Amino acid sequence: MSQTLPFETLACEIEDQIAVVTLNRPQVLNALNGQVFTDLKEIFAQLEDDPAVRVILLTGAGEKAFAAGADINELAGIGCSLGQDLSHRGQGVFRQIETCGKPVIALINGYALGGGCELALACTLRLASSSAEFGQPEVRLGLIPGYGGTQRLPRLIGSSAALKLLLTGQRIDASEALRLRLVDEVVEPAELMARGKELARSILAVAPLAVSACIQAVYEGADRGLESALRLESTIFGHLCDTKDKIEGTRAFLEKRPPQWTGS
Ligand code: HXC
Repeated sequence: MSQTLPFETLACEIEDQIAVVTLNRPQVLNALNGQVFTDLKEIFAQLEDDPAVRVILLTGAGEKAFAAGADINELAGIGCSLGQDLSHRGQGVFRQIETCGKPVIALINGYALGGGCELALACTLRLASSSAEFGQPEVRLGLIPGYGGTQRLPRLIGSSAALKLLLTGQRIDASEALRLRLVDEVVEPAELMARGKELARSILAVAPLAVSACIQAVYEGADRGLESALRLESTIFGHLCDTKDKIEGTRAFLEKRPPQWTGS
């Protein structure tokens, strides 16, 4: 197991091609202040460039929270211009996470509120502990989500279900989040990390370039009309046909043996 250089607000351990990033401000339920964004930006830049990392798990320290949102101390005193800057900067970091080219699995171990829910939405997949709670309570502070929640939430669960959460600010439990498809699975709290690693290992078992190509096709295609998105799919499909891993994967199947991936 290796560890990255220490960060003020998060921890990161890398083992067997899986990085575990842990938001580490449990005394304030992992609220997202400016330093968290600085640290997330830096760690995800490192992990994106690190060939030893193929899947990233993102979770929160302590038993209560994944992240209870933007740090309200920082929101309290700001006006229009600083508010727009804060929102824009956070959106940029979450977009960086979303487009890092590697699967990022949110392990939601407790409250995922406001910016915390938006952070989970920017991840590739979401596993929740049965104790997790979700919500976009910004309207209770006189605000709206500013880190992508008004855009990613309706894209994921539909505009009506999203608006119900956005307009009321009410919290929902993990089983309701599963029913809405806001999360992909719910497991017991003690099983969350093990299930996250198991899911990561099933992604590690398949062709590496195909994994990043799936993510690229889904995210880039979602921003296009169907005709253009289908052309994108064909283009990416064609590029994969030229890879060693495609030759190996198809041959291994025909020769009835496990494939040996090289990621090339
Ligand atoms: C700063 C926070 C915080 C937050 C909790 N804390 N959430 N500090 N920002 N978002 C602090 C509390 O002040 C408290 O500090 C400590 O963490 C423990 O929290 P408690 O409230 O005592 O815990 P509990 O009673 O269990 O209630 C948990 C909770 C509640 C339901 C999650 O803390 C809560 O409602 N938090 C705010 C959630 C929220 O509104 N999030 C959205 C923020 S806006 P002390 O010092 O008293 O121990 C947002 C906008 C994003 O995210 C877009 C920006 C552009």
